[in-house]
Amino acid sequence: MPIVIGAKRESDFTDPIGMLGDCHRRIERFLNTLWTVATGAKGGPLTNEQQAALATSLRYFRDAAPKHTADEEESLFPRLCRLDRPDLQPLLAKIDSLQQDHECAERSHREVDHLGQLWLANGRLSPQDAERLTNVLTQLAELYRHHIAMEDTEVFPFAANALASSDRETIGAEMAARRGVGSAT
Ligand SMILES: [Fe+2]
Ligand SMILES: [Fe+2]
Repeated sequence: MPIVIGAKRESDFTDPIGMLGDCHRRIERFLNTLWTVATGAKGGPLTNEQQAALATSLRYFRDAAPKHTADEEESLFPRLCRLDRPDLQPLLAKIDSLQQDHECAERSHREVDHLGQLWLANGRLSPQDAERLTNVLTQLAELYRHHIAMEDTEVFPFAANALASSDRETIGAEMAARRGVGSAT
């Protein structure tokens, strides 16, 4: 595991629920970077630093963030749904709305990626496209604020308590496989 000085030690595949929370911090950070570039340069010429930040953040949402969605939709949520506990109904309804958020976020990210790539390729954006980019990023920030809070404060703590350790191990192994690495379990 890489050592990050001055930062909280990141979870590994032996703590998949902790890893999902760590992913949220990266989503927030890269979204904030996109916002900073979009509102700082406003569709005009980008500095080298802004160009690199934009390209890295777009790549994160194109390549890495979909794996987080798959971790939840293919590994975590189905196992919670299978718990078959009567007290789970309210949580299952929330999981349903979280999955709808994923679809909505995916559409917005496709648009952000398109506009961001256009900006990188042409060196500037039209005023309409620049405004649209800022609007979509604002919508995404709002969506993630609710979405991440619900997962961090309700779904993940429940999962950490309710899932059997064998389930958590399997989720960790599936997350590792999704990233093409062997898990420690
Ligand atoms: Fe999610
Ligand atoms: Fe999430």
